[in-house]
This record gives sequence, structure tokens and C-alpha cells, in this order.
Amino acid sequence: TKKTIAVLPGDGIGPEVTRAATQVMENIARLHDHEFVFKEGLIGGSAIDEKGGPLPLETKEISAASDGILLGAVGGPKWDRLPGANRPEKGLLEIRKSLDLYANLRPVKAYSALIESSPLKEEIVADVDFLIVRELTGGLYFGEPKKREDADGETRAVDTLIYKTSEIKRIAERAFQAARLRKGKVVSVDKANVLESSRLWRETVDDIRVDYPDVELEHMLVDNAAMQLIAQPAAFDVIVTENTFGDILSDEASMLTGSLGLLPSASMGSTDVGLYEPVHGSAPDIAGENRANPLAAISSAAMMLKYGFEMEKEAKQIETAIETVLADGYRTADIALKTEETVTTAEMTEAVIKALE
Ligand code: NAI
Ligand code: MG
Repeated sequence: TKKTIAVLPGDGIGPEVTRAATQVMENIARLHDHEFVFKEGLIGGSAIDEKGGPLPLETKEISAASDGILLGAVGGPKWDRLPGANRPEKGLLEIRKSLDLYANLRPVKAYSALIESSPLKEEIVADVDFLIVRELTGGLYFGEPKKREDADGETRAVDTLIYKTSEIKRIAERAFQAARLRKGKVVSVDKANVLESSRLWRETVDDIRVDYPDVELEHMLVDNAAMQLIAQPAAFDVIVTENTFGDILSDEASMLTGSLGLLPSASMGSTDVGLYEPVHGSAPDIAGENRANPLAAISSAAMMLKYGFEMEKEAKQIETAIETVLADGYRTADIALKTEETVTTAEMTEAVIKALE
């Protein structure tokens, strides 16, 4: 099978970890007689430097014409003082919006080889394996009006939290479909005791549920969900929630399994083109040092194969290779205990490629 993949390395460690991921994909292609064509595009700070804006037209075109987008990370101190419209993050927001990538999927899974490095007790994290489905293009981050005004000596700032039923429906459907491929359990997270948008969320999720009678549904208030994620994370299968709650809960969940350097994500929309990226940022503190953990980016590539290309077997092969290298004791600095020896980005990548065979 031939697939065209847009590769947007971005800033900081982005280029290092996306290179690792494309190397793994090249090897998967070789082993299965696929042809993966990689097309690189600029995004974020590096695009601002070279093209004057965080999402050049050429990058948009490469992305829209691809079968899947692999992104590194954007941002860094060099661009922190630019005005909002010309910041690296704007490139990411724009590409999500332009491809209508409304569903952000974040799997959180405990690797048995790393359980001792979790901040929580072993028996609590041992069976953690869930998927957060976060709404990504609506809610508080995009709601209008946003405004700020000064009156009677006070400054007031307003953000608007809006959801339409159509937006809730499509994300709920994603969650129920994902649950069917997993353990068949959805927890929908909201704040229906105080927010009108959450009451609409809850009603709409209930309506969609009618088409998925085989899936179990529970509603949970977000404050309780934040607690349950620490108290009994292994009880979750699929969590579906709105943009802001999902942002916070997914960062919380990322700590269950040790390092940000392990966690992949996928953003899917109304077209077939999904965007796959590690959850972590550009890690300017270790950029260019061959120290970054490439496993989050490599797992993101596996998600592209699984969700984007329906290459379940190939995806599984990558996931198994990651488990193997971790079980064999390969550790980049972010996941090593003080007593453990560490490997570089390139060495970890090599090890994964070897383990594919
Ligand atoms: P960050 O995720 O870049 O780094 C947080 C900490 O985790 C750092 O100590 C870093 O060294 C470490 N880390 C992250 N990824 C790692 C990896 N693969 N291997 C080893 N260690 C890793 O978050 P931070 O520091 O808040 O943000 C840095 C820059 O990244 C900022 O400009 C921020 O805006 C941007 N950012 C971009 C994101 C994206 O492109 N999706 C997401 C989050 C932040
Ligand atoms: Mg976040």
C-alpha cells in the first residue's frame, strides 16, 4: 500500500523525535512491502524564522494532500515574546481548525517494565489502560465573544463556553466507536451540576448512547473524575469530555505512567487526514542533545498506522517492539531510575527498529 505522510518536525526536540518515528515507519514499510512517501513542511517557530509565519501555505497544502500528518512539537523561548497572532502555537491551532480535527485521542497505558517509576503505588497503576477522547475545536478556547473591558476601576475579562449539539454528537460517536474496539465502557465527564453547556453535553451523550446499547455509559463530574484518575485509574476504559476538561485531565493522566516522553496522541476530524503527535512539547532544555525520548513520537506513528491507515498488525508490531526494548532495559534519561544506565535518542530508535524484526 502506498501512503503519503506529511512530516512537520517543528521546533526543539521535534526534529529529533520525528526523525526517529519516520525511521521506524520506513522499516515497517520495508517489512510489509508498503510504500511510505514522506513530505516535510515547516511549522511553528522554525516556520516563523524562514517564512514569516507559523503555518506557511505550503505546509497547509502538503498536509491537506497527505494521508496522515506526523508532527513533532512547536514553540520555545526564542519566540515567546512575539504577539499572539504570530506565535508558534498558532500554527498548531490553525492546522487543527483548518482540517477540522475535532477529536483528540490520547491513550494512557502503563508499561509493566516502568511501573516502579510511576509516582503512584504499583497496585494502583498496574492495569492502567484507557483512552481519553477530548473535544478539540469547541468550547472555552474557541468561544466568542472573548473580551476585556475596564470600567469602575475594575478590569473584566470574558471567555465564552459554547457547545452545539452537532459538536457533542460527533465526539460522543467517536468515543462509543472507540469503546467498541476496547472494553466497551464510556465515562462521559462534565460539570452538569453548574454548567448549562454540560447539561446539553449530558443529554446529547445520552441520546447518542441509544445507538450503542452494547456500550456501558457512566456520567461523572469533572472534579470527581480528577480524583478517580488517581484513586482507581485502572477502572477507566474510554473517557470522553469537552476541550478544557480534557486538556487538564489528560495532563493529569500523563503522570500516571511516568514520563511525557512516552505518550502519543491522534487528532481526527471529518476527513480521513489525521494528525499524530507526541503529547509533550519541544523540550528546549534538552533540544539538540540526542537525549529526547523518541517513544512518544514512535507510538504516535503507530497510531497513524492503526487509526489512519487501518494497519492494525503493523501498529501492533511497533507497540510490541516498544514493550520489548523497555523490558530489555533501554532507558532514555527521562525514564531512567538514578541507578540505571541511559541511552541516546538514536540508540533507543535503533533498538526499536531491531525489535521489529
Ligand atoms: P515540554 O513537554 O516541552 O517539556 C516538559 C519537560 O519534559 C521538560 O523538562 C522536557 O525536557 C521533558 N520532556 C518533554 N518531552 C520529552 C521527551 N520526549 N524526552 C525527554 N524529556 C522530555 O513542556 P514545556 O517545557 O512546558 O514547553 C516547552 C515548549 O514546548 C513551550 O514553548 C511550549 O509552548 C511548547 N509546547 C508545545 C506543544 C506542542 O507542540 N504540542 C505541547 C506542549 C508544549
Ligand atoms: Mg495541555
